[in-house]
Amino acid sequence: MEQTAKNSGMVLACGPMPFLKNIWKNALELNVPTQLSLEQRMACGIGACLGCVSMTSDLYPDKQKAGLPVQTCTKGPVFWAHELNLDA
Ligand code: FES
Repeated sequence: MEQTAKNSGMVLACGPMPFLKNIWKNALELNVPTQLSLEQRMACGIGACLGCVSMTSDLYPDKQKAGLPVQTCTKGPVFWAHELNLDA
């Protein structure tokens, strides 16, 4: 990711949450544009059950949802790293 940052590249990642958390932390530290595909368990897939929520950061573009959980199935599953708070 350091090399990608130096080359003004972009990172795309999917995988298990411990891996994505490491990518997320590096993306924020290195300021690399990064998209994460979150693999949450999904029951309904239409935003009704709230079983797939992910926590957003203060930088989430919908200010009414910033810092709050959003449905991964309908708002994602791909998010920009800076829009998420995976430590929550
Ligand atoms: S799977 Fe039900 S809200 Fe996302």
